[in-house]
Amino acid sequence: MNNNTFVHKYIRSLIHREDTVVDMTLGGGNDALFLSSLAKKVYAFDISEEAILKSKKRLKDTDNVIMIRDSHANIRRYIEGPVRLFLFNLGFLPHSDDPTVTKADETLKAFQEAWSLLEENGYIVITFYLGHPGGKDEYYLLNDYIKKNRIPVLETYHQDRLDSPVTVIIRK
Ligand SMILES: C[S@@+](CC[C@H](N)C(=O)[O-])C[C@H]1O[C@@H](n2cnc3c(N)ncnc32)[C@H](O)[C@@H]1O
Repeated sequence: MNNNTFVHKYIRSLIHREDTVVDMTLGGGNDALFLSSLAKKVYAFDISEEAILKSKKRLKDTDNVIMIRDSHANIRRYIEGPVRLFLFNLGFLPHSDDPTVTKADETLKAFQEAWSLLEENGYIVITFYLGHPGGKDEYYLLNDYIKKNRIPVLETYHQDRLDSPVTVIIRK
């Protein structure tokens, strides 16, 4: 099972119809489409214009997804909370030459904001991609932060191949 399949399977049981959730990396809109079928409201961030354009097409039949073209690090400008679940699917926009990629420092800031906006018993789900330049730095920076701050990790999913993606599920 790949990480995206694992993530969708796992979070299906975590979200209720009355929940607000946030897709921190909208990309092509695949995750946001999935979240929109489960939650009341989905906020979705991306800094890439191509991602927003692709997702507008992908999500044209939904009425509960609010797309925001800004960095997830600026989430406080748009959302007061509380939020049931944050989803980070890091790295590059799939099937594209768009060079926009998530960056360790910015991702850490976004994670800290997400943690503070998260409701009690809420979840943060993050998938890290280790195979591109900067991917491992992003993983180590966030992992260190999670360990140092004793943030509770519920589950880690990783296929047993070199540099395959790592998914971490956190519960507040
Ligand atoms: C792996 S893709 C996300 C896949 C997506 N969730 C989907 O279902 O297709 C990662 C996305 O993160 C976006 N990104 C990079 N830096 C960002 C930032 N600072 N804030 C928000 N999105 C960012 C990229 O533009 C890219 O579209």
